[in-house]
Amino acid sequence: MRRPIIAGNWKMYKTPEEAVSFVREIRDALDAIEGADAVVCPPAIAIPGVAEALAGSRVGIGAQNMHAEEQGAYTGELAPNMLTPFCQYVILGHSERRAYYCETDEAVNRKAKAALAHGLTPIICVGESLEQNEAGETQSFVSGQVRAALEGMSAEEVVRCIIAYEPIWAIGTGKAASAEEAGRIIGEAVRGTIADLYGEETAGAVRIQYGGSTNPENIGAYMAQPDIDGALVGGASLKPSFVEMVRIAAGA
Ligand code: PGA
Repeated sequence: MRRPIIAGNWKMYKTPEEAVSFVREIRDALDAIEGADAVVCPPAIAIPGVAEALAGSRVGIGAQNMHAEEQGAYTGELAPNMLTPFCQYVILGHSERRAYYCETDEAVNRKAKAALAHGLTPIICVGESLEQNEAGETQSFVSGQVRAALEGMSAEEVVRCIIAYEPIWAIGTGKAASAEEAGRIIGEAVRGTIADLYGEETAGAVRIQYGGSTNPENIGAYMAQPDIDGALVGGASLKPSFVEMVRIAAGA
């Protein structure tokens, strides 16, 4: 049984002060929900404050990025052990990081291994562009991203990863992939690829999220897909109705 997991990717929204007051507002309601994991991923500078506001809560905290090295001359970056006092999760390879900060499959793989080595759960993002989708390249592209991200990992490490399938054309656009389509790509290109590499048992244990224009109205349809175990939520995670999404996922 894979436990549903809803993670909120706040991106570059909310000041540290706004972040703390928001988690204070939603914390008790999230803690009252059994049957699903809830995670918030604030901007890095807000993480310590959010961690303090969530002390004693079951709500998880994730970073939105991380460097793979232990330390070094990497201006503007954060090392794994800088996150571990506060975070249990880290989003890696988000399409915005890949597009605007030149993050490669190789970098995502290095970061994912570093996260695991430090006891952090990587939420590894994959997903095709509109052009690739229209050219019928979705399956092969997504499968390739999954292979590259997991390169060199043991089966035991792979089951500690979360994969988020986020078609780029569905992110922040209001044009969500249909639940059936998302379920099919996740089943075939994500879980199917893991099964090819590590076998059915390992593939069946990995939690896989859908991401892209999810909200309280459509989350139920995604959760009804057998291969979808949750969502990586952007815009809708900034509002108190994020709680509703976690509640729906827990009941699915
Ligand atoms: P969205 O973003 O829910 O605003 O489409 C999803 C994401 O980028 O993770």
